[in-house]
Amino acid sequence: MPDDRFEVPTHDAPVPGEARCPGPSTRDLIHADGMKTPPALTAESYHFLGDEDIGYERYYSQDFFDLEMKKLWPKVWQWACRVEHLIHVGDYITYDVGPHSVILVRSAPDEIKGYVNACLHRGTQFRPSDSSGVAPILRCPFHGWSWSLDGKLREVPCRWDFPHVKDEDFKLPEVKVEVWGGFVFINMDPDAGPLADQLSVLPDHFKDGWDLSNRYIYLHIQKELDTNWKAAQEAFLEAYHVLATHTQGLPTSADANADYDIFSETVSRFVHTIGHPSPHYKHPQTQQQILDKMLIAVDGLTVPEGKLARSVYAEYQRKTMGEAMGVDLSGYSDSEMVDSIEYHLFPNMFLFPGITLPMIYRFRPIGNDPGRALFDLLFLRPLAPGQERPEAPKPHRLTAGESYATAPGMSQGLGFVYDQDTDNLAMQYKGMQASRKRGQTLGNYQEARARQVHLTLDKFLKA
Ligand code: FES
Ligand SMILES: [Fe+2]
Repeated sequence: MPDDRFEVPTHDAPVPGEARCPGPSTRDLIHADGMKTPPALTAESYHFLGDEDIGYERYYSQDFFDLEMKKLWPKVWQWACRVEHLIHVGDYITYDVGPHSVILVRSAPDEIKGYVNACLHRGTQFRPSDSSGVAPILRCPFHGWSWSLDGKLREVPCRWDFPHVKDEDFKLPEVKVEVWGGFVFINMDPDAGPLADQLSVLPDHFKDGWDLSNRYIYLHIQKELDTNWKAAQEAFLEAYHVLATHTQGLPTSADANADYDIFSETVSRFVHTIGHPSPHYKHPQTQQQILDKMLIAVDGLTVPEGKLARSVYAEYQRKTMGEAMGVDLSGYSDSEMVDSIEYHLFPNMFLFPGITLPMIYRFRPIGNDPGRALFDLLFLRPLAPGQERPEAPKPHRLTAGESYATAPGMSQGLGFVYDQDTDNLAMQYKGMQASRKRGQTLGNYQEARARQVHLTLDKFLKA
């Protein structure tokens, strides 16, 4: 008699989250390169997180947005700027998220301070949102009250009229500041734990050749998006959309067999190999044909017999990029050179340690509108030995309708790909509000990273 106490998984009822795209995995493809890679690159970490729909009101509800502004953003570590925004004493940059505004200053050669960007007289911002420059003192533009860079009250015009203002009560309220990987993080909560808790595996993974403190910003583009910040970043958390959104990439992008990892509540990753065709792409191709279709095709480059297109492409980039930047790239494997290796740090930051795809993303709300977001897209480059860190370029800002290809310095091919990504977003946001369905239905594996963000967000909102 069958024992019905146990459920035996069958093909009809697979264990949720265990199914994978048939064929070689990302790990198989990277191992097939036959190169030494950092252990982190092929580490795997996934567990099933549930399959309930994610409610659409989380994206468009003003109440939900207000709750995030109260319980998430003032409590979480978030990346505010890079150290190259604050090279000299007196350099400042402002960082806004929703109604919150912070001013970061280099107060001493070895010290960065962050203050609430609001004058203690009558509230005026010391410097406008999204601005940067030099401020030897923090002087309010309205009536001229000023503070020194260490936050002490320095001058009150007509001080005789303010006998009730005591210096010790009028120090600028600080936010916590920590630096990791050349990124300056802030936390507005005076009781916040250390940044390291939120970074989890990142310091271990981003060491040696992936140490982003040895890189600098060479291009920074911002784009305004007509959607919620979470929906915007979710468009970049999976390669599932490559099939329909980036059809031109199918011959050269192994999308459906990408690797997805959930390393902790705050860090996830995908690795998406470039130079292998999509499992959806059934047309036979030679390695030469693959090479000719790579995003940055190189005229005259040929694939010798027995070699992979990605290997030839990686070697070409090692040489040409290495020479152009004055950096020895010979230690990077083919995968680190060409693949899309994308980490996400909760709540809103993406880091790519690769060399030809060296991006940093950030998605945050604009003002108090749940349906507007700002997407920061930065490209980093390795610093050559002895090279002085260049000052950060000012961001080039695009409106929702403008193409990435119009941004000076942006590659046309990659600009087109980002346009494809962001063109979906306003339609999705409108559809979410029109839908009779309660929420979005996510894939168990390929879209698990988006679910993890919501689970961690809920912990903040319920705290
Ligand atoms: S509001 Fe700042 S000096 Fe008056
Ligand atoms: Fe995309």
